Amino acid sequence: MQYNESEFLFETEVPLEEIIISRTDLKGNITYANETFCEISGYEADELIGKPHNIVRHPDMPSAIFSELWEALYNGEHWRGIIKNLRKDRGYYWVEAIVSGVFKDGVLVEYKSIRSPVSRDEKIMHQKLYDKIREENGEKVRKITYE
Ligand SMILES: Cc1cc2nc3c(=O)[nH]c(=O)nc-3n(C[C@H](O)[C@H](O)[C@H](O)COP(=O)(O)O)c2cc1C
Repeated sequence: MQYNESEFLFETEVPLEEIIISRTDLKGNITYANETFCEISGYEADELIGKPHNIVRHPDMPSAIFSELWEALYNGEHWRGIIKNLRKDRGYYWVEAIVSGVFKDGVLVEYKSIRSPVSRDEKIMHQKLYDKIREENGEKVRKITYE
C-alpha cells in the first residue's frame, strides 16, 4: 500500500472522559466496538466487526509488543501497555490499553480491551522507545521530529 508520509502526522486525541472498548474472539477478530472506538478510529462498527484487530495496527508499532500481548493472554494474564493505532484515514491515535480475557462460567470465551488517554510526555517517550525497538529488531523505522 502507498502512503503519503504527511497523512501519518494527523493525530486524533482521545478525549479525557472517553473510554474505548472492544472485544475480540480468541483469534483476535473484533466482535464488539463501542461508539468511541468507532469515532476515534474513523470506522463504522460494521467495518470493524469480524475484522482482525490489526485493522488499526500502526506501522510504528513493533511486532514485539504484540508478541508480549498475546503471550500474556495465552498465559491467562492481562496485558497493559501503550499503543499507537492507525485510523481509517491513515492518521493515528495513542491509547493506554488493558487487554484481558472474558470468562463465561469460568471458561475463556473472548478477549476485551479497555483503553484510556495517554499524556503527551508518554506519547513522546513511547514513540522513541518503539522506534528504538523496531530499529533493534530490523523493522522499518520512520523518524519523527518533535518540537
Ligand atoms: C482484545 C484485543 C485488543 C487489541 N487491540 C489492538 C489495538 O488496539 N491495536 C493493535 O494494533 N493491535 C491490537 N490487538 C492485537 C492484534 O490482534 C494484533 O496482534 C496486532 O495488531 C499485530 O498484528 P499482526 O498480528 O498482524 O502482527 C488487540 C488484540 C486483542 C486480543
